[in-house]
Amino acid sequence: MPLTYLLHLTDLHLPPPGETVYGTDTALRLDAVLADIAARHGPGKDMPAPEFAVITGDLTRDGEPAAYARLRAALERLPCPTHLMLGNHDIRENFRAAFPEAPVDPNGFVQQAVMSSAGLCLLLDTLNQGHSDGRLCEQRLGWLAAQLAGSGDTPVLLFMHHPPMAVGIAGMDEIGLKDADALWSVLAPHRARIRHIFHGHLHRPIAGSWHGIPVFSLRGSAFDVALDLAPPPRKLSVEASKTPCYAVLRFTEDSIVAHTRALLPT
Ligand SMILES: [Fe+2]
Repeated sequence: MPLTYLLHLTDLHLPPPGETVYGTDTALRLDAVLADIAARHGPGKDMPAPEFAVITGDLTRDGEPAAYARLRAALERLPCPTHLMLGNHDIRENFRAAFPEAPVDPNGFVQQAVMSSAGLCLLLDTLNQGHSDGRLCEQRLGWLAAQLAGSGDTPVLLFMHHPPMAVGIAGMDEIGLKDADALWSVLAPHRARIRHIFHGHLHRPIAGSWHGIPVFSLRGSAFDVALDLAPPPRKLSVEASKTPCYAVLRFTEDSIVAHTRALLPT
């Protein structure tokens, strides 16, 4: 396996032009991330060219067509192919209208399998439209099971918006993935070749494991969720983003390292 780099961005929460999110112009923060990537990654620059970037959902503030159009223009600055995923703040139909070339599964969910030098990347659609929690229904899990069954011994990297495990932040766990047990039952027979899970949704730096599978997430570019581990009931607390960031994922045959690149707030 050659040395491979991928980029992980998440939770952009991009609003329509001229609007803000929780009083913050998240477009400026996304700008900072995209400018840094464009300046630093590629031939002759500080960092190697990434094979591709994955954005793990919450692309827009509330799924507005004008926000998707704005995102499409912004992403032209990225120096590599980019694979977009949906989060609970997205609207599937509006996304598909703005990005008609984005692959979908046979049931219209925004799921795809992308082969990389580091393994087969399976990008899941956990959007439960109209709700904040995440779902992986039978149709979506059926697609995942077929991808796993048809990929032999190939190493697998999973990308999803909602994490599969609770994290102890009551307000986020309430809107977590509701079908985690069903997901595990699909993954368990293939556990040995599932190298890592990368997710979004939490707006926090996260490292840990779930059923022994390493898990990683990052703050993202928009705003932060407060670290509040008090027992429920607990309201979700959002903070202005201290440092918009993205991650550089480095893969070798026997290692995975996730570097977070944090930028000055704008
Ligand atoms: Fe988010």
